[in-house]
Amino acid sequence: EKGGYEHFMAKEIMEQPKAVRDTISPRLKDGRIVLDDITLTKEEIERFSKISIVACGSAYHVGVVAKYIFEKLARIPVEVDVASEFRYREPVVNEQTLVLVISQSGETADTLAALREAKRLGARTLSIVNVVGSSIANDSDDVIYTWAGPEIAVATTKAYSTQLAVVYLLAVYFAEKLGTISQEVYASYIEELKLLPEKIEKILENKEDIQYLASKFFNVKDVFFIGRNLDYAMSLEGSLKLKEISYIHSEAYAAGELKHGTISLIEDGTLVIALATQTKLFEKMMSNVKEVKARGAMVLGLTSEDNRMIEKETDYALYVPSADEMLLPSLAVVPLQLFSYYVSSMKGCDIDKPRNLAKSVTVE
Ligand code: F6R
Repeated sequence: EKGGYEHFMAKEIMEQPKAVRDTISPRLKDGRIVLDDITLTKEEIERFSKISIVACGSAYHVGVVAKYIFEKLARIPVEVDVASEFRYREPVVNEQTLVLVISQSGETADTLAALREAKRLGARTLSIVNVVGSSIANDSDDVIYTWAGPEIAVATTKAYSTQLAVVYLLAVYFAEKLGTISQEVYASYIEELKLLPEKIEKILENKEDIQYLASKFFNVKDVFFIGRNLDYAMSLEGSLKLKEISYIHSEAYAAGELKHGTISLIEDGTLVIALATQTKLFEKMMSNVKEVKARGAMVLGLTSEDNRMIEKETDYALYVPSADEMLLPSLAVVPLQLFSYYVSSMKGCDIDKPRNLAKSVTVE
């Protein structure tokens, strides 16, 4: 059932090219994004004054990426909330709000409760769910399914990647309807989306590079993931993945925020994983790398093949294939998953069933 792999997590990481392809390709027809699944009309999309995203854990991290993507492409204000916080802060949600709910299982109690609260407040609801017929899918006005297939390992991998793929489809779809991107840009995103599965495959083919880096670092006590914008969103996921399966203390920080307190924790040998895929922010990130190196940190840089000059600033570097920068989170997450997997394996942890965790959290 593990298909020859030692763990479900390894199998599910390796299934990502297929999962992403299965999620994207049925929604592309004749060079257009076709979302037959949803009933939202162009007029309804135009009436939304904001999108409010609610989810937990890794699905919340997809939401953080989605905020940058929707705001940049579709120019709609986006809020992202952890589901357990959403209900109790009296959110400003009404008929003009699209509440976007993200959940692999479709049964997470906090997320389901937030969805019901959003409906009570009159919002239009759309969910991105992996399990067909689950409670969240049933209770939402519209559902777009991720076609990741069953995910068994507690730490999510392929569900995350397919949720992100749906976010891209939806954001580009909205942007085209709202006229915030040109037909040319629309067409180029569709071409880029089609290339994602093979680029993910390329990263997986070079997984030994990541295994080697894991062998260097599996004994560290603390890890800091830093990044800006989309790379900050990726830091959140990289950090969660590592701590949940390897029990190494890790934190994710917006790189520019580090010097407002957290940098006091950096000492000789502290591992900093610096995500720097966004070319516009590359120089700023390198300043942050210099700041932590000056305090003794060991830095592992992660960027795309476009930014090989990262090697000048970091102790180690990892590359993902080049792609449109907006789509790089879909690639950058893969080495982060593999790193956590190998570290956890080298530490002898129970990778598929980490202590204290359950696959589906059905209590609030
Ligand atoms: C982390 C992880 C969890 C889930 C969270 C939400 O690897 O898997 O953080 O993302 O519990 O679960 P779903 O998506 O089922 O609502």
